[in-house]
Amino acid sequence: MRRDDDGLLQVGRPLPALDPTALPGAGRPDWKQADPAFIERALERALAREAGGWVVVDASERVGEAPRKMQLLGREWVVWRSPRGPVVAPNACPHMGAELHEGHVEDGCLVCPWHGLRLGPRGRAGWRPVPTWDDGVLVWARLREDERPTDRPILAPRPRASVAGVIRMEARCEPEDVVANRLDPWHGTHFHPHTFAALRLLDVDPDRLLLRVSYRVAGPLCVEVDCTFHAPTRRSIVMTIVDGDGAGSVVETHATPVGPGRTAIVEATVATSDRRGFALARRAAPLLRPFIERRARRLWVEDAAYAERRYALRTGEVAAGPAEDGAAERDGRRALT
Ligand code: FES
Ligand SMILES: [Fe+2]
Repeated sequence: MRRDDDGLLQVGRPLPALDPTALPGAGRPDWKQADPAFIERALERALAREAGGWVVVDASERVGEAPRKMQLLGREWVVWRSPRGPVVAPNACPHMGAELHEGHVEDGCLVCPWHGLRLGPRGRAGWRPVPTWDDGVLVWARLREDERPTDRPILAPRPRASVAGVIRMEARCEPEDVVANRLDPWHGTHFHPHTFAALRLLDVDPDRLLLRVSYRVAGPLCVEVDCTFHAPTRRSIVMTIVDGDGAGSVVETHATPVGPGRTAIVEATVATSDRRGFALARRAAPLLRPFIERRARRLWVEDAAYAERRYALRTGEVAAGPAEDGAAERDGRRALT
């Protein structure tokens, strides 16, 4: 354990010392470093990347044999796991439109609850499942017909020996608001002081941010790591630990359009470590998973609020800036002087 220059007790593997005067933005407060034009530029580059038509549906372990209704891209789907893998198909029966998630699965076929039509994973006229992919952590569906299709989803590398946890929550925003949130690391210590004790930008490149982050473990105890943020597709942002404890671990944030102004945030934490106890931790994965997911959810409750605020401002749902003459008085608000 050692005390660093910020007075934090660092318990992790020591990282190379930094010269604070040589860092980008040295000595400037975070609100000056968080340049909206830079974030917008980084976002534009991310949004130009291909995604192959794939969107994340949910955690692999949450796609089970029981059919379930899901809203994705403004349409209703039935999702279940057949012996051949996950199936994502329109939720309306091709006969008379019954809700198929209310049916049951028999011999790998979905049986319609109204008149018993049997629908297999290959589909039939008027009812076709879409291509799916299960990467072991997440289930994907190739739903976007307006993108150049790829055979598989575009993924950043993940560690092989790992413990994974996945959260899914919905927010009133669009995928770009989720990506924009992740391209603003400067909010970390201010907006999430319970998790981030210190955060320094080491390299500011619109395609890849490199940061040194002190995560709070408990009270004044912190673990310091170097990590990168990059967007492998227009709907994903990946944080990769590149130095320090847990190097190789990733946190993938995926934004799936649910409907107009509604987005599902699916975040997979895939943690690894070369420490001796990690093999034991992997065996205890079912116990660790809720802990990983609780931490991720706490952060995303706040980040979803950030993304929703950005969405509300850019769509004009909330007016920002000075009121027109007299509007403040008419509304009973006090003008700022
Ligand atoms: S509505 Fe499904 S079989 Fe008739
Ligand atoms: Fe955040």
